[in-house]
Amino acid sequence: MNKTFFWMPEQASNFAESLDRGLAIYFTLAAIVLLGVSFFIIYFTAKYMRKSPGQLAQAQITHNTKLEIIWAVIPFIIFMGLFAWGLKGYINMRVAPNDAIPINVVAQKWSWTFNYPQGASEPELVLPLGKSVKLIMTSRDVIHSFYIPAFRVKQDVLPNRYTTLWFTPTKIGTFHLFCAEYCGTQHSGMIRSVKVVEESEYMAWVVEKANSTAGMSPEEIGKTLYTKKGCNACHTVDGNAGIGPTWKGTFGTQREFAAGAPAAIDENYVRESITDPLAKVVKGFAGAMPSYKGQLTDAEIDGIIAYIKSIK
Ligand code: CUA
Repeated sequence: MNKTFFWMPEQASNFAESLDRGLAIYFTLAAIVLLGVSFFIIYFTAKYMRKSPGQLAQAQITHNTKLEIIWAVIPFIIFMGLFAWGLKGYINMRVAPNDAIPINVVAQKWSWTFNYPQGASEPELVLPLGKSVKLIMTSRDVIHSFYIPAFRVKQDVLPNRYTTLWFTPTKIGTFHLFCAEYCGTQHSGMIRSVKVVEESEYMAWVVEKANSTAGMSPEEIGKTLYTKKGCNACHTVDGNAGIGPTWKGTFGTQREFAAGAPAAIDENYVRESITDPLAKVVKGFAGAMPSYKGQLTDAEIDGIIAYIKSIK
């Protein structure tokens, strides 16, 4: 069976079908109860309406033991059944199979980084079809939430601890990944694509990415990091101001800061702005950048400096 319930997105993971079926059953039960209760409210209102101004209330019925037991016991059995079924599904979703591929996920304002077991560290989530995947997730700053509607999985991503999620992609294609917890100005910009491909294609991709910076010039490394590390969420390279100043034509220019004396944009300034972004905030900007201290190697920082220099 592969019937999506009403307005639900397409089903692309091992959990999708059973979760949709659960929703359909709950929805149907709730609809039946709503219709039944509504019917009797209207029916009894009409039936027991006072017919004339002088009419007294009819004989008072206080209770009916048999009826009360029936309407208590039947829902109890239904709810316990739903509870047991839900608990089984919950445990299944929480406990990943032992052979699941572990992928580390780092969320930060406002990007995702996926660290694959082969060593690749990418802003893109690419997954092999039919293989279980376990995501081990943490945040560098505030609470984010990892959400792929087509997979029916959602999990908060917290600073200073790890949360996990597992699933098996069951469909080739590209799906949306959202951040589902408001995390600041560019929260809506944390939307990404999840690509599900054949296993052989996944292996080729992940190995290629693991060796991707070999033989690159510093400028090329910087250009790669610009999107990979999410610099592009705030800094443009076309001259337009974003959340932060553009990188185009800035190197070597004189800048005024929110506090302190003006200074030229040089290697030291770029390096300081990466590791300690709030030290010199360019005038007119809010100073929203998180520190990248410890997340970039010296070679990578040199690469970013070389890239900024190259954008005239
Ligand atoms: Cu990250 Cu919203």
